[in-house]
Amino acid sequence: MSKYWATFGIDLLVEVDSATGRRNGLEHALRDAVREGRLAPGAQLPSTRALAAEIGLSRGTVSAAYDQLVTEGYLTARRGAGTSVAEVSPRRTGTPRTGGDAVAPRYNLRPGHPDVTTFPAAAWLRSTRRVLTTAPAAVHGYGEVRGVPELRAALAGYLGRTRGVLATPDQIVIASGYVQALALLAQVVGAGSRPVIAMEDPGFRFHRDVVRRAGPEVLPLPVDGRGARTDLLGGAPYDGTGAVVVTPANQFPTGVTLHPDRRHALADWARDSGGLIIEDDYDGEFRYDRQPVGALQGMAPDHVAYLGTASKTLGPGLRLAWMVVPPHLADPVTEAKLHADHHTENLGQLVLADLIATHAYDRHVRACRLRYRRRRDLLLSRLASTPGRPSEIEVPGLERPSGIEVQGPGRPSGIEVRGAAAGLHAMIGLLPAGPDEETVLRLAQARGLAVDGLADYWHNGGDNPQGIIVGYGTPPEHSYPAALESLAAVLASPPR
Ligand SMILES: Cc1ncc(COP(=O)(O)O)c(C=O)c1O
Repeated sequence: MSKYWATFGIDLLVEVDSATGRRNGLEHALRDAVREGRLAPGAQLPSTRALAAEIGLSRGTVSAAYDQLVTEGYLTARRGAGTSVAEVSPRRTGTPRTGGDAVAPRYNLRPGHPDVTTFPAAAWLRSTRRVLTTAPAAVHGYGEVRGVPELRAALAGYLGRTRGVLATPDQIVIASGYVQALALLAQVVGAGSRPVIAMEDPGFRFHRDVVRRAGPEVLPLPVDGRGARTDLLGGAPYDGTGAVVVTPANQFPTGVTLHPDRRHALADWARDSGGLIIEDDYDGEFRYDRQPVGALQGMAPDHVAYLGTASKTLGPGLRLAWMVVPPHLADPVTEAKLHADHHTENLGQLVLADLIATHAYDRHVRACRLRYRRRRDLLLSRLASTPGRPSEIEVPGLERPSGIEVQGPGRPSGIEVRGAAAGLHAMIGLLPAGPDEETVLRLAQARGLAVDGLADYWHNGGDNPQGIIVGYGTPPEHSYPAALESLAAVLASPPR
């Protein structure tokens, strides 16, 4: 079998297997490269003459292969502009939601992402200029492992003022995203006498993997209409639990706020057992209908590691997060951070410190809150006006949370919108009278609409309640109404 390797100007190797004919081999190679994403949408291909010369085929053969792939929709040919990879190739429409496929859906309503177009570039630029004109050259050298003092001081004030967190700058460690903060804490817990961490079920699977990789075993902690079942922590199987990870302000993904009784139960467990509470306050800045819910950390500062992130307020690309740890954990966590990456980069930290100190951060968060609230309202009103019968408000296994619910005679039967009082996402519970999760996901995929199924969030398979998670942060403003139309159409599908 003879193979030809061609190096295009775009730095890509295409393996041409001529076992089934040279033209066929070239077509296969190019098709695979487009499908696998090695040839990106819009990438320019070499001219037929250049490619033919390089891989030793006739120009007619290359031309025929290109024509075939244009017909199939993989390539686009424009007079004078040559041949390039099509912006939307056959594989890219109706692409699967999962499996790390990086291809963008037409409407992205997956949770976990803010509207990054709101990034306050002008304010960031002003702060950067100030930092660079005033900071000594030493900021470009190695910095403090815990993070720059300016940011830790600014955060101690900001978190106390806005989230009720009790912190001194010494207790604050800056991390490269929540994910790193979680990994560092998991390492510390893993090195202790009780290397077991309980995590909410349902919860974010990726974070469970992060904890397991750091060492500890993960135990599921069920969630109901009052939030995580922290009342269970005193008994089996939680006896050997060293830490509990919770999202008390806005449970991810159900959107339930941890009930005051459950907060107390959790704080009591930590005091009695010496266990650690890891509080994930990933979107605590965004509340719409309820009174702001203060951080749990304020109740038990010696037992809670409070974790916040700039991923939802500014953008996940920054990889900036912070933890406020109990004093006895400051050294072990700092040690873990040192061995992970010395410290998070200095400049971004200083710029964020300046944004907070000048209140530009407050102004930005307030503007985002209004924007997301409008989007949340649009979601609720669009679903309320979808034709269908009214339905019961319940989700099996989950008590009804407080907060806004879509009601009214026009609401589609068999669905319930939950957890819409805060954050950037809502959960749509699929009741037995409604369509099933798999069908909804399949129909959504066919429309190029990306949402998450609740199935991805349970620790174990089986007969779990069904639902989808809808994030309203990502779509650009102009396409959001169309994304909601698409969602409403999918949800109006027949009962299971
Ligand atoms: C539950 C939860 N916590 C935390 C985060 C923030 O993670 P990071 O700071 O690593 O971007 C996310 C982001 O999606 C999240 O969903």
